[in-house]
Amino acid sequence: MTTLLQVSGLTKRFGGLTAVREAGFTVAAGEVTGLLGPNGSGKTTMMNLISGNLKPDAGTVRLVGKDITGRRPHLIARGGIARTFQLVRVINDMTARENVVAGLAFRDRPLWGQAAANEADRLLERVGLGGRAEAQAAELTYVDQKRLELARALALSPRLLLLDEWLAGLNASELDGGIALIRSLSQEGVTVLMVEHVMSAIRQLCERCVVMNAGAIVAEGETTAVMSDPAVIAAYLGEEDD
Ligand SMILES: Nc1ncnc2c1ncn2[C@@H]1O[C@H](COP(=O)(O)OP(=O)(O)OP(=O)(O)O)[C@@H](O)[C@H]1O
Ligand SMILES: [Mg+2]
Repeated sequence: MTTLLQVSGLTKRFGGLTAVREAGFTVAAGEVTGLLGPNGSGKTTMMNLISGNLKPDAGTVRLVGKDITGRRPHLIARGGIARTFQLVRVINDMTARENVVAGLAFRDRPLWGQAAANEADRLLERVGLGGRAEAQAAELTYVDQKRLELARALALSPRLLLLDEWLAGLNASELDGGIALIRSLSQEGVTVLMVEHVMSAIRQLCERCVVMNAGAIVAEGETTAVMSDPAVIAAYLGEEDD
């Protein structure tokens, strides 16, 4: 099995707080891997270190063996890592199509003009926003803004897609649709690393999980085994999330 992403000894400090501490794990190509852990355990910081939005104090991030540690976000994106944000980031005063076209301009082989518009419409259709291309991003519902952000991430033709609580805040039927969408992307060959608190989604989607607690990796392995690991149960004791 090919290792797509390899994180080793990764450390990030914010002043006196060590948000990520000597963290190491791997993501296999073709798999959906869950990144779990209680609130404040360092999951978003980890995503930011992988995507280049933050620079680590120590450690390395490798994509198919290539060291990409500390590179700027647009270069990492062009290298094949796309992401969504825990707090949705779309460009409010642009249409859905324009948001995705902006993403297409940042990929390894950029698309422009009509080719970009056509590809944007295809991606919008792909995430369930067919027919909404002309809508202003600000007018979209929360779940549709999440879909739009995903379409923009897909515009980069990523090898690795980082999803930071992309399923959070969806109602039951939206959740089912979201799970089906992530599964279909995986079946098309996109490798996914997803931060998620929705345990039912993790059980349905993730072959493997990595669990963080207080900045450190406390478990890594096959999902059912990880879920019954005493270190994981201890990390979640007192947590309300399920
Ligand atoms: N830019 C920052 N400056 C200072 N402290 C930060 C910064 N970003 C994160 N932290 C702190 O680092 C720790 C880890 O935060 P992080 O956002 O990575 O956690 P998380 O696991 O994503 O939590 P949640 O499940 O609530 O999203 C927290 O204590 C947080 O307050
Ligand atoms: Mg977070």
